[in-house]
Amino acid sequence: MEVVVVGGHGKIALKLLALLAERGDRARGVIRDPAQAPDLEAVGTEAVVCDIEREELTDAVKGVDAVVFAAGAGPGSGTERKRTVDYGGAVKLIEAAKANAVARYVMVSSIGAHDPDSASGTFRAYLQAKADADRELADSGLDYTIVRPGMLSDDAGTGLVDLSTELGRRSAVPREDVAAVLAEALLVPGTVGKTFECFGGEIPVAEAVRSL
Ligand SMILES: NC(=O)c1ccc[n+]([C@@H]2O[C@H](COP(=O)([O-])OP(=O)(O)OC[C@H]3O[C@@H](n4cnc5c(N)ncnc54)[C@H](OP(=O)(O)O)[C@@H]3O)[C@@H](O)[C@H]2O)c1
Repeated sequence: MEVVVVGGHGKIALKLLALLAERGDRARGVIRDPAQAPDLEAVGTEAVVCDIEREELTDAVKGVDAVVFAAGAGPGSGTERKRTVDYGGAVKLIEAAKANAVARYVMVSSIGAHDPDSASGTFRAYLQAKADADRELADSGLDYTIVRPGMLSDDAGTGLVDLSTELGRRSAVPREDVAAVLAEALLVPGTVGKTFECFGGEIPVAEAVRSL
């Protein structure tokens, strides 16, 4: 499978790219800083340079089987960049996928995106950006899967998760396990059309993804 991961130098994205390369998929990551390219090459993937706030993604996704949106403006950013990255970048990827007839799109969203009004300030803007991007994807006609991880940690992955289409719970999950869930979801047609939350848990990733 040929996959493009947008936000390719992100913490989840790098782990996902490594997993894809390990299982023999051809993966490339979209980055905005060319100096990050060696880190993508070190895990057996290629880098494509594109600043998603300033450029289109059309060329970056040419000829691929699936796209993953794993970019984010990050914790230090303000309301404006939540719109330009978390929302605008995700929508650009929808448009690019459609323009290239790439049907499969996996989104890294967030818990809380089902109810942005429960938050305030910049965090509300973040959840609204995620919610709006998720809605556009669900309405896009693409074969989508929306993954909403809980609070991310850099703890080592356990390979054990708790996935649920029932939204509104709160818990944590290692980024490594989120990456494993994303990699598995790309293989499982039963995840198409699903939105689910992702936490650390007790069920092996492959089993959890297949039972959604
Ligand atoms: N923190 C949490 O607890 C939590 C919980 C649920 C979901 N999430 C979401 O999960 C996703 C992945 O998380 P993560 O920790 O792996 O993210 P991360 O390490 O912050 O990575 C985000 C990536 O997006 C890239 N990016 C930002 N602006 C860009 C632009 N204009 N053009 C191209 N790339 C751009 C960044 O590149 P640069 O290095 O160039 O900035 C970075 O590599 C994020 O959307 C995050 O919001 C987070």
